[in-house]
Amino acid sequence: MTTPHQPAASARLNVVVLVSGTGSLLQAILDGQDERYGVVKVVADVPCQGIERAQAAGIATEVVEMGADRAEWNKRLVAAVDSAQPDVVVSAGFMKILGKDFLARFEGRTINTHPALLPAFKGAHGVRDALAYGAKVTGSTVHFVDAGVDTGAIIAQEPVRVLPGDDEASLHERIKVVERELIVAVLRATRVKGEELSIQL
Ligand code: GAR
Repeated sequence: MTTPHQPAASARLNVVVLVSGTGSLLQAILDGQDERYGVVKVVADVPCQGIERAQAAGIATEVVEMGADRAEWNKRLVAAVDSAQPDVVVSAGFMKILGKDFLARFEGRTINTHPALLPAFKGAHGVRDALAYGAKVTGSTVHFVDAGVDTGAIIAQEPVRVLPGDDEASLHERIKVVERELIVAVLRATRVKGEELSIQL
């Protein structure tokens, strides 16, 4: 049995970050820590550079690799995150869909950063899909995670222009510059109100 986590409204926000890869957004989140929020743990689904960045910063880490049983992996993921008692969970380049056990525990407190202007170009290839569609403007969206794929309520968005000659890598890098600022701004503006988050940007 788990009990609901009820932190003090004025306390520094405890953040758990989920990563799967390079972790450049995680690095921005780590560099942006101040009296408003701190990263208490970094959890990944695969060994990755994000985990190395967290270790270099002296942050607790855990890798929860998925086996054949996805539901069982979700339970292990919940336990790994829960052990750090987060106020907020940030999915920052975490490339797995969070299942119902995870949402039952953390929905409303889990936010994701996506490299497109939702509701356009949802899914794992937001940058590639915007480019292939011929979009002239794309960008970054920070949103709550719900049971759909990139369908949760939007918290913040910033546009990024697609330039002539852009390829996926060049466009993604410009989007990430914006994502890094946006996610730090969102975390600094986030407070806990009971079981809910209040985000005043
Ligand atoms: C970011 O652009 C993030 O929005 C994206 O992965 C990148 C992670 O970069 N996430 C998704 O596409 C999730 N659907 P990083 O590893 O350098 O932080």
